[in-house]
Amino acid sequence: MTTISVIKADIGGLVGHTGVDPDILSFFEEGLKEESIFDDFFVGWAGDDIALILSHNKGENHPEVHRIAWELFKEAAELAKDKKLYGAGQDILKDSFSGNVKGSGLGVAEMEFEERPSEPIVVFLMDKTEPSAFNLPLYKMFADPFNTPGLIIDKGMSKGFRFLIYDLVNNKQAHFETPEESYALLGYIGDRHYAIKKVFARSEKFPEKEPVASVSTEKLSLIAGRYIGKDDPVAIVRAQSGLPAVGEILEAFSHPWLVAGWMRGSHIGPLMPVPMEKANPSRFDGPPRVVALGFQVNDGKLEGPVDLFDDVAFDRVREKANEVADYIRLHGPFEPHRLPAQDLEYTTLPDLQERYKERWQPIE
Ligand code: F6R
Ligand code: MG
Ligand code: MG
Repeated sequence: MTTISVIKADIGGLVGHTGVDPDILSFFEEGLKEESIFDDFFVGWAGDDIALILSHNKGENHPEVHRIAWELFKEAAELAKDKKLYGAGQDILKDSFSGNVKGSGLGVAEMEFEERPSEPIVVFLMDKTEPSAFNLPLYKMFADPFNTPGLIIDKGMSKGFRFLIYDLVNNKQAHFETPEESYALLGYIGDRHYAIKKVFARSEKFPEKEPVASVSTEKLSLIAGRYIGKDDPVAIVRAQSGLPAVGEILEAFSHPWLVAGWMRGSHIGPLMPVPMEKANPSRFDGPPRVVALGFQVNDGKLEGPVDLFDDVAFDRVREKANEVADYIRLHGPFEPHRLPAQDLEYTTLPDLQERYKERWQPIE
């Protein structure tokens, strides 16, 4: 069995919240080379977030795999502090390691599977948004025949898929099967407080417990109980032969969907698909970005990556994202550009209520 673990954090930005420091990327590369537990690895990034893409045979939630990632992020945070990078150490919420990275501030997407004769995967990295930003694209990939014709014309997909959904506010989970339960599924995942955690194939070609997609769903603001940075998510999606083709997976990003995040984690803006080298969100700390790295898994080795949004076919989506950014920015501090009060990552509302409480009188 092969396990792919993508473990990520923002441990300090260069400059501000727009990018990562090349020395810190080299630190991770050198550090991971020393570890014999991994069959292969790749250090990716999007904006100010670094993602360790790790291949091994230890299964999900393995203490040693998580410990290595945790220690590297913690040491890197110290380097970031030495360099006075911005927000150095911001996602490191705990002082000591407690068996796995859950609740530590690191984000994690993992899946264990039996490698097929050929195993293409796509690893997505997002910056300036949140886990539920994957809801719409994952629904399109695995449940919408207007995006994925394979759902109709590939026999291997005709049974549909099963979605594991997390209720991020109440810490609950539920499964929904498509196509039969698509309306119920959409009823939930249309709401940002629910996030798709995993997708499973219903075809007997795939073992019931083997995920075909997995998303990091940590929400830093909920973990810490106060604002300490956006929970920029990552995801792993398997492709082809009874699953959506690589092109069907990428087609789900052919429109700049509106997502929550952007400036101060408090605004709605368009999600722009970009090559990794262009994932430096600088305009109004955005707009939010998504990077897609394609690998062929080869007995645990990661052949690649291919930077999949580095294609002129995505130029128009990027142009459209810029137009949408111009349009929505004009709304300034008004909803729906600004998030509703209860979802703001920063707020002065309690102070305002206190300062002006005498001014508010019953309407005459
Ligand atoms: C959003 C984000 C940035 C910061 C903004 C203010 O996820 O990270 O937009 O919120 O740059 O940052 P501070 O409060 O650190 O000055
Ligand atoms: Mg940041
Ligand atoms: Mg970030």
